[in-house]
Amino acid sequence: LDNGLALTPTMGWLHWERFMCNTDCAMDPHNCIREELYMQMADVMVKEGWLEAGYEYVCIDDCWPLHQRDPQGRLQADPKRFPSGIKKLADYVHSKGLKLGIYADVGSKTCAGYPGSLGHYETDAKTFAEWGVDLLKFDGCYMNWTMLGEGYKNMSRALNQTGRSIVYSCEWPLYEWPYHEPNYTAIRETCNHWRNFADVYDSWSSIKTILDWTATNQRILTPAAGPGGWNDPDMLVIGNFGLSHNQQQSQMALWAIMAAPLLMSNDLRDICPKSKELLQNRRIIAINQDPLGKQGNRTGVVDQFEIWERPLSGARLALAILNRQEIGGPRGFPLTLATLPNYQYCNPTCNVTQILPVYQELGVQGLFTKLVLKINPSGTALLTVRHIQD
Ligand code: DGJ
Repeated sequence: LDNGLALTPTMGWLHWERFMCNTDCAMDPHNCIREELYMQMADVMVKEGWLEAGYEYVCIDDCWPLHQRDPQGRLQADPKRFPSGIKKLADYVHSKGLKLGIYADVGSKTCAGYPGSLGHYETDAKTFAEWGVDLLKFDGCYMNWTMLGEGYKNMSRALNQTGRSIVYSCEWPLYEWPYHEPNYTAIRETCNHWRNFADVYDSWSSIKTILDWTATNQRILTPAAGPGGWNDPDMLVIGNFGLSHNQQQSQMALWAIMAAPLLMSNDLRDICPKSKELLQNRRIIAINQDPLGKQGNRTGVVDQFEIWERPLSGARLALAILNRQEIGGPRGFPLTLATLPNYQYCNPTCNVTQILPVYQELGVQGLFTKLVLKINPSGTALLTVRHIQD
């Protein structure tokens, strides 16, 4: 979407995977969906270096409103859980130098059964703009699939007409795929990013399904991505319970290769130092945020190693080698630059930097030198190679 926003993939935090639709603040005050959750997350994001690393958007997902609209037909936040209201919350988040995201649905109800925006697109866009919202995640439940396109386009128009800069995060293709192949030209014109595939879970099998689906459909997906519009493989679940550290490194590396929005869904108030360091790794973030804005692809599968490549600015290439063999110990991947599908980058030589599993300058390498990378089961080696002019 050509609205001047999301020129690189959006970075921030989104409540869904970790906190879901927890509205029981009597039982679970620390984790329920209420204004304190976002205020505390905003506090930590500033104090603990998240904003400095680039994570800017604090985003509300489903389950924030009341079940009824107000007498003027506007959505209203549940006053028990958001006594100050969304506008005050936006002011608070802005006072910290952060931005606020909110959630609504193109259909008659949200997935969790709260009021949908169908028939209220203009009112809701105006309400969000008046509140000072900076991002809208627009879900696709309870909508006749033949009307998805019109709905998403109408909300895009309504947001534009408010005159406020609001990043528009869609789920249009996810809800259209079961019926037919989505029109990615139209989606890119309408949205700043779009979910294509099922919700991420806190598990390695979920991450693998997302990677496999993306690789299978990369001929359709990759060309649609670029400054202003990105494929969204869903949230980062790093720092939760389901992924080993090697698997967390794999999610981070591959989300960088896929030019994915980096929306963490975890508890930043309580996150282990290793996950934090990984999520704040400047070298990986720089790959994700590369100004060229080209999404990478899976370019090969050899001996249960997957090779993913992303072209970067400055005659560079990011390379991720994922070890998909989940038995045994670390395995050596013999990297010969000449065998890369994009080997011309390294003719006659390349400067090679390893970023994961640990940072290491590997120096100038010729086309035919063999580098052996040791990669743990379900772990990833992430590298950049830079062409050296002769
Ligand atoms: C489905 C979406 O794909 C999820 O990310 C989340 O927003 C839920 N709906 C909320 O109900």
